[in-house]
Amino acid sequence: MKPNSVPAHPHAIAAREMRQYEAREMGIDEAFIATLVDRFYAAVREHTVLGPIFNARIDDWPSHLAQMNRFWQSILLSAGSFRGNPMMKHLAIPDIGESEFQTWLLLFYQTLHDIAPTPGAVALIGGKARIIAESLLTGIAIHRDHDAELARNMELPHVQPANA
Ligand code: HEM
Repeated sequence: MKPNSVPAHPHAIAAREMRQYEAREMGIDEAFIATLVDRFYAAVREHTVLGPIFNARIDDWPSHLAQMNRFWQSILLSAGSFRGNPMMKHLAIPDIGESEFQTWLLLFYQTLHDIAPTPGAVALIGGKARIIAESLLTGIAIHRDHDAELARNMELPHVQPANA
């Protein structure tokens, strides 16, 4: 336990273990997450729109990929290993808005459809990605662009179900 932190409530521990169990039942484990991160960011780097945005900001790709592994392990397996501030990082990127988030999500969904081990994994991970994208874009609309209209009317694609 970290110094000064309160022990997790047994119900919180049980809920975390249940989420992790359910994810693993769908074939979501550390090895799959590593493959997902590798494949997605390989596609990102090649992408006409997204590639230049990332390549202009990331010079240490292995360390970004390690960070993204910790992020997705924490989201999907409750690993608790991610330390960062995604909202601040994305607020600092001037070139991104609704259209780039739509593009990001469609490419992410494509990668999921290509490699996800089960239809449940496509739905779970695609759904999480969309919620996070929506929250980042809402932050950008409100705090960076002062555009409450965009925050209300943004349209981000949903993941399509995979064939069982
Ligand atoms: C237009 C879409 C996006 C672009 C262009 C983009 C670009 C970037 C870049 C350049 C970084 C590195 C920033 C830095 O280290 O200074 C970054 C970090 C990150 N991105 Fe994105 N991103 C996008 C969408 C997303 C989405 C939808 C998610 C989650 C589902 C996400 C999750 C993250 C995380 C977790 C980090 C690490 C943050 C940290 O270390 O605090 N990104 N992104």
